[in-house]
Order: sequence, then structure tokens, then C-alpha cells
Amino acid sequence: MRMYDLIYTKKLGGALSPEQIAFWVKGAADGSIPDEQSASLLMATCWRGMTTEETLALTLAMRDSGKRLDLSSVPGLKVDKHSTGGVGDKTTLILGPIVAACGVPCPMFSGRGLGHTGGTVDKFAAIPGLKVELSEAEFLRSLAETRFANSAQTTDIAPADKKLYALRDITATVESIPLITASIMSKKLAGGADALVLDVKCGPTAFMKTLEDSTTLAQSMVDVGGAHGMQIRALITRMDAPLGWAIGNALEVMESVEILRGEHGDSELAQMSFRLAAEMLIMGGVACTLEQALARVQTSIQDGSALDTLRRFVVLNGGDAAALDDFSRLPQPGQALEVLAPRDGYICAMDGRALGILAMDLGAGRRDRNDVLDLGVGIRVRVTVGQKVHKGDPLFTVYAKTGAKVNTAFYQDTVAWSEVAAEAKGWLLGSIGC
Ligand code: URA
Repeated sequence: MRMYDLIYTKKLGGALSPEQIAFWVKGAADGSIPDEQSASLLMATCWRGMTTEETLALTLAMRDSGKRLDLSSVPGLKVDKHSTGGVGDKTTLILGPIVAACGVPCPMFSGRGLGHTGGTVDKFAAIPGLKVELSEAEFLRSLAETRFANSAQTTDIAPADKKLYALRDITATVESIPLITASIMSKKLAGGADALVLDVKCGPTAFMKTLEDSTTLAQSMVDVGGAHGMQIRALITRMDAPLGWAIGNALEVMESVEILRGEHGDSELAQMSFRLAAEMLIMGGVACTLEQALARVQTSIQDGSALDTLRRFVVLNGGDAAALDDFSRLPQPGQALEVLAPRDGYICAMDGRALGILAMDLGAGRRDRNDVLDLGVGIRVRVTVGQKVHKGDPLFTVYAKTGAKVNTAFYQDTVAWSEVAAEAKGWLLGSIGC
């Protein structure tokens, strides 16, 4: 088999056989196929797409490029969640402990942030001492003892994805529905969960900008998961303004803990986290209806069991659980600056992507894969879309390194204004799956 023929076929819009796809994935992972040929096939795939059969074959080949985790030693249906990524998205920190506290084991592998989006691993890393790269034995112990496990993706899970994702990242080939499907689903299938809830983000701050593309991506992942016996359901959620008040790692831990304490219960972040958790409880078999599941979620907040599960997870994995009660033990910024409203009016939109980039520039995120983060810096969003604001009211608090220069105009420019109250937009745009 020649890689040249695969590239040529895809360039003309043809379909590759499962054998050809397996040949490519194996060669990309073991280095026998040069990067320029893989990059060329990735670009042709971006333009020409893949059939459902090709996407399935790519997912399987990537899953089988590494190890598959066996979670059968932990009783019960294991339910995972994946979000396609956004700004201020800390739902894992909230729903993981909730789902576990309600009796459903929740095994999760997370990524590090890159560019304007944050990564769950970095958020957990803001809890002093918490080990965020667990060995297989540690992951299983955490799942067995607290019903919650979260770790950075280990290198032996779908190594072909690591290789191909790095190439996609530098060749502008990330935004392809079959490539995203295979990348996410290969890791999820290798991770060993029985069921998966997907949070597919839609909007200017997300990979998928339109409802049509988000729905196609969601359907593609649901089809691939279903074909491999995974129970799977996708919610499509709006991603434009930041999710919640916190952008930045320690700040996002604080906001998550506040929600687990029962604060901000009406916020979009809390409502979205509770709904995703409820879907997971239904899949895990501890609730039959959405109403029952949401009631269980509320009980876990009110009786403190969700926050207690987070504490036990932190202690078991070497972290300082006292930091969840005393936020001064979390990484702190060098300085705090207020950004004030330049005018009266209603806030009709907020540019989450621009705020994500500003947070990255403060040191909360990575421009380059090897950047070292400052876990204490970030942005507190003091307003919400739809709110009426007067000139001089605080819009943002910027937490920066000592001596860092902050250009407040850049922050003010992320807000769009109107003279009349904008119609409230719901966060849930659709759902797909069983
Ligand atoms: N996240 C992934 O893991 N893979 C993609 O391709 C896109 C987002």
C-alpha cells in the first residue's frame, strides 16, 4: 500500500477503505509515514470529508493505536462527559462530584488548555498538591473509592490521536467534523466508560459556529459511539459569552465550589452543569426521568454530599482540601484592577473568544503547548448579557501578575451595547441521542 494513493484518492473526493485508514494511522503513529504525507491527507480530508464508514474506521484505528482501559473492577455503569470546549467551561469540576455523589461512577480524562479555551487539567492543577496525572492504578483507586476520577490523558491512550492532533494544530486542519469525531471518540472509547454525555458547543467562541455544524458534529459522534455499543447522548449548548463569572484556573475552582455550596443556582453555568449531570444520572440508571434526576442533583448540593465528594477526591489524590473552604490557599494573583463601563446601556453581547485570549495573555492559558501557566491570574466577569449597566459600574476585575500592564480598553471592547433590553437567549439549543 502506498500513502501517495490514499492522498490522491481523497484529493479527488473518493472514500478510503478501513484497511487503508488503518495503514495510515499505524504509519502516522510509528513514524513510518512522513508528517508531510499525513498533513496532506488531513488537508484533503478537511476539504473532501469522510463517509460514516470512513469516520468509524478512523475512530477504531485510532482507538486501537494504544491501550484500552478496563474499568470492570468498579461496579456500576460508568458514565463520562465530554465538552467540545469553551471559555469559562468548568462543568466537569461541578458535575463530576455531583454524579459520583448520586451513586454513578464518573471516570474522566481531561485535556490541558490551548489558545483561548481553558483545560480541565489546568483548573484542577490550581488546587495545591492535587495530582492531575494519575497512573492507571491511581485512576482506578480514585474511581473505586470516591466514584470520581479525573486525570490528564495518559500517553498510552490513543497515541495516534496525539500525533495527528499535533499535526492538525499546525496545519489549520482541526475544524473538520470527521477528524474531530474520530479524535474525541477514539479517546472516549479507549477510556472504558459505558456511557457518554456530550456537550457540543455552538457559537462564535466554539469550534462549531452554526447550529447546523454543531448538530452534524453531535450526530456524527452519537453515531460512532452507538456503533460501538456506547450509550451516548449529546446536548448542543450555546457558547458566545464566557460561561460563569470566572475565567482563569484558581478562579474557576472558586466558582465551581461556590456552585457545589449551593450558590449561583440560577446561573447559566449551574443550570447547564445540573442538566448535564442529570443526563448522566439517567444513563447511569439511578433516575428514570429528567425531573427525578434533577431532584437528585439538587439533593446532592443541599445535603453537601457533592462538595464532600470533591473534598474526598482531592484528599485521596494528594491535594489540599482546605483550599476548597479557604480560597486564600489557592494560587493568588499579584494585582487586581477594575474595568469600568464606559457608558450607560444594556449589555447585548460579550465576546467570549476575545476574553479567553485576554485571559491567555495574562498567563491563564497557553499560546504555545509548552507555556507555563500562572494559575492565580484571570478575569472575573461582573456583568451578564441582558443586564442594564450605568457608566462607571464594574464590568470586569482583572487579576494579573505584579507589574503587568493591563489595557482596560481591550476589555471594554469585548462588550456590545444596546439601548433596549435584548431578548434572553436560552443556553440549550438542541439534543440528540437515546
Ligand atoms: N478535542 C479533541 O480532543 N479533538 C479534536 O479534534 C477537537 C477537540
